[in-house]
Amino acid sequence: MTKSILCKKVISAIRSVTGKNNNIIGLHEPNISNLEKKFVKKCLDLNFISSKGMFVQQFEKKLKDITKSKNVIAVISGTAALHLALRAINLKRNEEVLIPALNYIASANSVIYCGGIPHFVDIEEESLGIDIEKLKIYLSKICSFKNGKTINKKTKRRIKAIIPMHVFGHPSKIKEIIKIAKDYKLDLIEDAAEALGSLYNGKHVGTFGKIGILSFNGNKTVSTGAGGAVLAQNNKIANRIKHLASICKIPHRWKYDYDEVGYNYNLPNLNAALGCAQLKRLKNFLKQKRALFMEYKKAFKNIKEVSILSEPKNCTSNYWLQTLILKFPNMQLRNDILDYSTKKKILTRPAWELMHCINYLKKFPRMNLENSEEMIKKIINLPSSSQLI
Ligand SMILES: Cc1ncc(COP(=O)(O)O)c(C=O)c1O
Repeated sequence: MTKSILCKKVISAIRSVTGKNNNIIGLHEPNISNLEKKFVKKCLDLNFISSKGMFVQQFEKKLKDITKSKNVIAVISGTAALHLALRAINLKRNEEVLIPALNYIASANSVIYCGGIPHFVDIEEESLGIDIEKLKIYLSKICSFKNGKTINKKTKRRIKAIIPMHVFGHPSKIKEIIKIAKDYKLDLIEDAAEALGSLYNGKHVGTFGKIGILSFNGNKTVSTGAGGAVLAQNNKIANRIKHLASICKIPHRWKYDYDEVGYNYNLPNLNAALGCAQLKRLKNFLKQKRALFMEYKKAFKNIKEVSILSEPKNCTSNYWLQTLILKFPNMQLRNDILDYSTKKKILTRPAWELMHCINYLKKFPRMNLENSEEMIKKIINLPSSSQLI
């Protein structure tokens, strides 16, 4: 099939799912109903619009019920949650943190905020998460142990932590990652920013590691406008995170005193009100997203040059983004499909620029990243809003 015929077939398959209207179809739009308007109005009426208020507590409680996390701390963004997580494990200057190369920018930036060194590792095709076998071989070659710490023999720096990411809502191989983290004495922080509602062996992702994070940015399954949460399984860590997120203010009825440099990272009540309404609708959003996946799967069934990414074995994905995978890596074809669909007002998107290709990240250590480099040429994300179905 020629490239231009394939582009046309892809667009027609997308349109068969999203409908034939001529409006712009976004990649992922917020789904706002009268319930959200009612909750936000109530918050405005109460005049508690900043970081104190009942909606923050309700939002945290509801997230606890959904994720079964021991502690939930609502914050202003997923990036802030990652930054707090790294501060809470006491990441120090020049310590390395392993992160996948196929990634959103937040974890690399958060490591750098703390003076740390992102160290990029490769991914696998099934889940798009960290490639376990490759990582095991790599670490066995580059690591030594000294005083209970893992040292990168090449750079002489400590490797302190690993941040796996559940890509587009699909759980990565977290059980195996836990084993690697144990063997190499690494703190495990799970970036579940995209994965609210996703389960690995029936357990909510983000709750396997010492700390996990979620994002409620405008493009997520559930949104608070901007927002995030830290999931912490240890009370001491949770208290440390609450303190850091509240500018390290020493609790007092009227005195303004602080015991170290902290951050103004608490989620405002106004955003939490929006989040409370959205969480009431989560079950339905997840149903709609799964139905959308089935529709795309049907629509693309007869185009043998592509497939639709499915949830990995033993996992329940939230199907945050629906992903078209080209059978063979082909950057030109990927770009042609992106260009053509954008011209047709269908806002398909590639995966992110690989971390080691971003100018200010090129200097950081990395393993061979050939899977990431291949996958980036195959991934096209399709319109995925829950209301498309
Ligand atoms: C994997 C991942 N991590 C972290 C974040 C950061 O979250 P936020 O945008 O809420 O700061 C995002 C995205 O938004 C993300 O997709």
